[in-house]
Amino acid sequence: MNMGKIILVGATKGGVGKSVSSYNLAYSLASEGKTVLAVDFDSQANLSTCFGIEDPAAVPVTIGHLMMTQIDDEELPEPSEYIQSRNGVDFIPASMVLSAVDAKLRLEMGAERMLANILEPLRDAYDYIIIDTCPALGALTINALAAADSVVITVNPQLLAMKGLQEFLKTIKKIKSRINPKLEVEGILLTMCEARTNLCKVISEQLTDTFEGQIRIFNSKIPNTVKVGESVYYSEPLLEYAPQTKACQAYLDFGKELIGYESKSA
Ligand SMILES: Nc1ncnc2c1ncn2[C@@H]1O[C@H](COP(=O)(O)OP(=O)(O)OP(=O)(O)O)[C@@H](O)[C@H]1O
Ligand SMILES: [Mg+2]
Repeated sequence: MNMGKIILVGATKGGVGKSVSSYNLAYSLASEGKTVLAVDFDSQANLSTCFGIEDPAAVPVTIGHLMMTQIDDEELPEPSEYIQSRNGVDFIPASMVLSAVDAKLRLEMGAERMLANILEPLRDAYDYIIIDTCPALGALTINALAAADSVVITVNPQLLAMKGLQEFLKTIKKIKSRINPKLEVEGILLTMCEARTNLCKVISEQLTDTFEGQIRIFNSKIPNTVKVGESVYYSEPLLEYAPQTKACQAYLDFGKELIGYESKSA
């Protein structure tokens, strides 16, 4: 029996590659023979789109519905009613229902563990559960942090993503001491690293200097490539759409680093 590890992919910035990284990481882990469940925990439903959901509003049971059920203290449906599958990776879609959940959570007391309660029973069925989160540090992200074992923080050097980083780390620390003692920072993943501009190198060095010995900076860095946008458009992971690209290799290496294999890109 598995004892799945729950990994949150997060950042306090928008557009830094959280959804794309959640999606491709899920397939990288699957290609290593791992069983993976990806959870879309953003009402924008970008991850659901990656998985080929064209109209999230038409999905009968999304993570938002499950959250509502959990908040209302009602019984959850069978996993077969809400877990979907595409090319060997399972996923739970999101929709706008999640923004109603966000509003509702703010009025509830002690409702930080709603997502944890939904995901805990699913651990047995997976090696990894990946949660894609929204960029706001609100009630939803707090629920996701309460459910997770660890956090992968995505940083896009082009978006001054360093700025919100300290604030995010502070929140993680608070959640760890108040709600979820097992929570750890898995590491920082640099996305959309434009090698030509040298910015990627500068930011990596800055991150290494700042967090040496405290937070791992993954050796794998995700290059900037139009293939990513194209693959999302076609609802295919890079492993299907552009397996020969550097970005695909980087996500494969990242998956191996997470699992704990020796990284080739060091
Ligand atoms: N390595 C990459 N190279 C080029 N474009 C990328 C790369 N990674 C992501 N993108 C593009 O950048 C945009 C933002 O990516 P993504 O949706 O993954 O970010 P996000 O952090 O999830 O955003 P949000 O905060 O809105 O949820 C998307 O249009 C995506 O296709
Ligand atoms: Mg996203």
